[in-house]
Amino acid sequence: MNAVVQVEAVRKEYGETVALAGVTLSIGAGEAVAIMGPSGSGKSTLLNMIAGLDRPSSGLVTVQGEELTRMSEGALARYRRRRIGMVFQFFNLLDDLPVLENVALSARLVGTPRRQARTRALELLEELGIADRRDAYPATLSGGQRQRVGVARALMNRPALLLADEPTGALDSRSGEQVMDLLLDLNQIGQTLMLVTHDHRLAERCATRVVHFADGRIAEMEAA
Ligand SMILES: Nc1ncnc2c1ncn2[C@@H]1O[C@H](COP(=O)(O)OP(=O)(O)OP(=O)(O)O)[C@@H](O)[C@H]1O
Ligand SMILES: [Mg+2]
Repeated sequence: MNAVVQVEAVRKEYGETVALAGVTLSIGAGEAVAIMGPSGSGKSTLLNMIAGLDRPSSGLVTVQGEELTRMSEGALARYRRRRIGMVFQFFNLLDDLPVLENVALSARLVGTPRRQARTRALELLEELGIADRRDAYPATLSGGQRQRVGVARALMNRPALLLADEPTGALDSRSGEQVMDLLLDLNQIGQTLMLVTHDHRLAERCATRVVHFADGRIAEMEAA
């Protein structure tokens, strides 16, 4: 099977709290999976497990045939930088760096020479329609523009998997639609995508499958 991600019987406990109570989920290359569910149901925890930001209490996470649970901290950090792109609700841009440098930094961190990193960053900013703001600081951009920068940064190292945790959660509905269109376009050219959202309409538009979480478990899966 051509799975990019395989999550098998993953549990995650934080003290008494059971954040994930046994989740099994497989995501194929080129899929766009939306994760929905109430606050506290484990959506971000699942994304963090797949991103290698945290480790399961039990169960396995395998991405492109490599088992994250077996990786050292250093290997996990390399995996995060090279294979995963992350987009966050509140953008997580560096305020002291202009847009172009924010985007180029991801490539610098994996050893790409400065010129090459800047060229790729500029290409992405052009594709995402914000190249004219390349020298601006994040604080001077609108939310929608900041999220475009966030998406450009996430794509910098051509990740096997793009993870987006409520990428439209802090945006007005119009900018939210635009960011979703962007994610949809990326998926249509083959980018595998996992997206947490509270907006069912956006989920259905963008996703090939919608997975509903409740109490740390998958409650329902629907084809979109
Ligand atoms: N680092 C942590 N330490 C302790 N408890 C945590 C931690 N991360 C998550 N939890 C707990 O695990 C449960 C699942 O949290 P999670 O953030 O995955 O929910 P979510 O579905 O993303 O919610 P939201 O929609 O509000 O973002 C919650 O009860 C939360 O309090
Ligand atoms: Mg969350």
